[in-house]
Amino acid sequence: MLPGANLRDVNHSGSGSTPANHNHSVMMSTREKEKYIENFNFPFCDESSKYEKVAKIGQGTFGEVFKARDKSNPKKFVAMKKVLMDNEKEGFPITALREIRILQLLKHENVVHLIEICRTKASQHNRYRSMFYLVFEFCEHDLAGLLSNVNVKFNLGEIKKVMQQLLNGLYYIHSNKILHRDMKAANVLITKNGVLKLADFGLARAFSTNKNGQPNRFTNRVVTLWYRPPELLLGERNYGPPVDLWGAGCIMAEMWTRSPIMQGNSEQQQLTLISQLCGSITPTVWPGVENLELYKKMDLPQQQKRKVKERLKPYMKDPYALDLLDKLLVLDPSKRHDADSALNHDFFWTDPMPCDLGKMLAQHSQSMFEFLAPPRRPTNMRAHHTMAAARPTSSAVQDGGYQDRVF
Ligand SMILES: Nc1ncnc2c1ncn2[C@@H]1O[C@H](COP(=O)(O)OP(=O)(O)OP(=O)(O)O)[C@@H](O)[C@H]1O
Ligand SMILES: [Mg+2]
Repeated sequence: MLPGANLRDVNHSGSGSTPANHNHSVMMSTREKEKYIENFNFPFCDESSKYEKVAKIGQGTFGEVFKARDKSNPKKFVAMKKVLMDNEKEGFPITALREIRILQLLKHENVVHLIEICRTKASQHNRYRSMFYLVFEFCEHDLAGLLSNVNVKFNLGEIKKVMQQLLNGLYYIHSNKILHRDMKAANVLITKNGVLKLADFGLARAFSTNKNGQPNRFTNRVVTLWYRPPELLLGERNYGPPVDLWGAGCIMAEMWTRSPIMQGNSEQQQLTLISQLCGSITPTVWPGVENLELYKKMDLPQQQKRKVKERLKPYMKDPYALDLLDKLLVLDPSKRHDADSALNHDFFWTDPMPCDLGKMLAQHSQSMFEFLAPPRRPTNMRAHHTMAAARPTSSAVQDGGYQDRVF
């Protein structure tokens, strides 16, 4: 039983009860039930009081994230992500269970490490409902925070290292049949030693390649709008790993532009921005696109030339970088580079070779997170609108303004 369960659900055969008090417990008074819950010993789920909160570092759609110190080892820091108990009657949220299950499966240097799940003690003060935290190894920065700081300068070898680690992480999760589905700079963490970790598996799910020939019917209302690939915007439900590689492409360009390259304020506008950058979405470049549910319902700009290299050249310069980006931002998901082919691209195997980020990061003693940074605005681009909300939501709903910037 979970400590969040309703008082009425108190089960008399719980591990703490002996046959003697079992009989007695049938007649438990409310006070006795409260005491029972307060004193219940939950194995494998420590109390969150073993950690001491130091600062708030994130405010996600699904709750707050704190930096905290391990009281038994004051040099050790963790990140605690609160589980939002939105619908208490349903017990522990299924979305959080899914995130935990996936995180428990994934063990890789480039995937954030989940240490444990903690709980607050149930007491009168929280109406006998515990709060739960996902406890992660602490990473000093997220990529959105780093990119928003003009003093943080990545050289080409360092950008290569970031992208190589990001693609290594994607290669690993995709090999384990997991889709991330929320790739964006704020969900990419970097330790002070320069080790990159994919984070935020709140929207992740397992996939299998078409069991018995039946197409998958996943929700397409995933991925933050600015990083959402064209197949999702057109209503595809039988999608796969290429959705994450589109996001990887957007993040790659952002390493130079320093802010997201396509900031639509609606699904329609996002598709327009994509067409203007990647060329018109047609059955010629993408056979079968005409069968997607929203293909006829959306207004798809015609006669658009593909300008990925041309438009990003002033920022990226390096021809290998431009070529890899061009192969990630491919409209047809079946032709988009996968993590493996991206890792084999000459970009990673020519001078300057990927180089360690530790030295560059050592010049910065402050943690950098998107939550703590001002909204990102490149100095060389005119912003028509300021951002009302600091970040776009992961759902289709876009409230607030946007920055109408196209690179
Ligand atoms: N292990 C960690 N170490 C350091 N910071 C972290 C860690 N985990 C998360 N954060 C910070 O907290 C922020 C929010 O965390 P996360 O993305 O997991 O939560 P979320 O609620 O799912 O967010 P959203 O839905 O808005 O993307 C991250 O962008 C990052 O800045
Ligand atoms: Mg997040």
